[in-house]
Amino acid sequence: MKLSVIGCGYLGAVHAAAMASIGHEVVGIDIDQRKIDALTKGEAPFFEPGLPEILAEGVASGHLTFTTDMAAARGAAVHFVGVGTPQQKDGYAADLTYVNAAFDGLLPYLSEGDIVAGKSTVPVGTAAGLAPRVGATGATLVWNPEFLREGWAVQDTIDPDRLVAGVPAGAEGDRAASILRDVYHPSVAKGTPFIVTDYATAELVKVAANAFLATKISFINAMAEIAEVTGADVTQLADAIGHDARIGRRFLGAGIGFGGGCLPKDIRAFSARAEELGKGESVAFLREIDAINLRRRDRAVQLAVDALGGEVFERKIAVLGAAFKPHSDDIRDSPALDVAVRLHGLGASVRVTDPEAIANARRIHPQLTYVADRDEALRDADVVIVVTEWDEYRRQMPPEHVSTLTEGRIIIDGRNCLDAAAWRAAGWTYYGMGRP
Ligand code: UDX
Repeated sequence: MKLSVIGCGYLGAVHAAAMASIGHEVVGIDIDQRKIDALTKGEAPFFEPGLPEILAEGVASGHLTFTTDMAAARGAAVHFVGVGTPQQKDGYAADLTYVNAAFDGLLPYLSEGDIVAGKSTVPVGTAAGLAPRVGATGATLVWNPEFLREGWAVQDTIDPDRLVAGVPAGAEGDRAASILRDVYHPSVAKGTPFIVTDYATAELVKVAANAFLATKISFINAMAEIAEVTGADVTQLADAIGHDARIGRRFLGAGIGFGGGCLPKDIRAFSARAEELGKGESVAFLREIDAINLRRRDRAVQLAVDALGGEVFERKIAVLGAAFKPHSDDIRDSPALDVAVRLHGLGASVRVTDPEAIANARRIHPQLTYVADRDEALRDADVVIVVTEWDEYRRQMPPEHVSTLTEGRIIIDGRNCLDAAAWRAAGWTYYGMGRP
């Protein structure tokens, strides 16, 4: 099938390459010439495992092309719109500038019977507002939210947990859902749940899923706060409650909390939208989820200050991690970098290292010192703080080895990802988050 994908960021670039990899003819369209130049050469403009391979393959086969020219969308049977919906500069609501621009740009090239599939995370009600404009061209709008996780984006796109299609009522909607099923044929054939619903439900599925995940993380981080004043161990607590299948262990990782391009801004946008709808109180708890999340960053900074006897000025702190999570070079709303910036702000001599995110981090926070080599960051550090749980720190950093690099014997585990007993046995003072 011939497809167009409008927006070639994390979502769109992966979607375009993944759709080409399952046999479709895809054109990816973006206004950013630099991004398009890289993609045209088969190069991923950001770090995402598995993407370079399918990108290069798609481009080489001729079934995957990229352009800045919206007219290239003409003739595609399905047009995916996957542009960003960042947080507004002066508030919590989602900024729909890019969504509106994408639809404005696309509408002139639509033909009778085309499907426009919105994938961006939008405030509930957006699709209903766009549908008449799409309908006026003879095309049909569906809302088809994306649930991919960075670091697993290729797998999540090719083999998702579920597919959701918000469609208009009646025959037009049935036809649209059936075309979308054809697009996703390999997953549908494997039995992946394909949920056909209305626009509002489809839009809400996405924000509700993210709100739930954020709530799970902040719940366990709230328990970490209680553990910290009672001597309990939040990781054992998470293991124990996680055995209850109704609760589940995943997303109960206590630490410095969630960040990235989705969870923080999506829960804020959801709160803002609920308020507009006169239902702010229904999701008032999301404000608390956000507050708990941000408090954990304070806690990590405080642990470092306390560990150094209350004064960090000119003390050497090795910050291991900058990306908001491992397997990503994304530093948007990264708790890791936030902790580094704050320690730097207190006058500490901070050295930040990360296997993938240094270039992005340096662009946004040039005031910090970055070292590509982990051991160089560790050398002579008074305190080591792990803020992104890359394997390089979690599995491939034996305490005995770090002991050869520094006399400082204090380690703060901002992700509860280290073996506390092993570090203590090697003579280190270990501080976890919500652990004694
Ligand atoms: C998330 C959703 O998982 C995905 O479905 C949606 O499409 C986009 O937002 P992503 O932002 O890629 O995906 O990252 P995710 O793996 O969900 O992690 C989000 C943040 O939560 C990270 O900062 C991570 O470190 C943190 N986290 C995750 C925890 O602090 N504890 C956990 O137990 C799990």
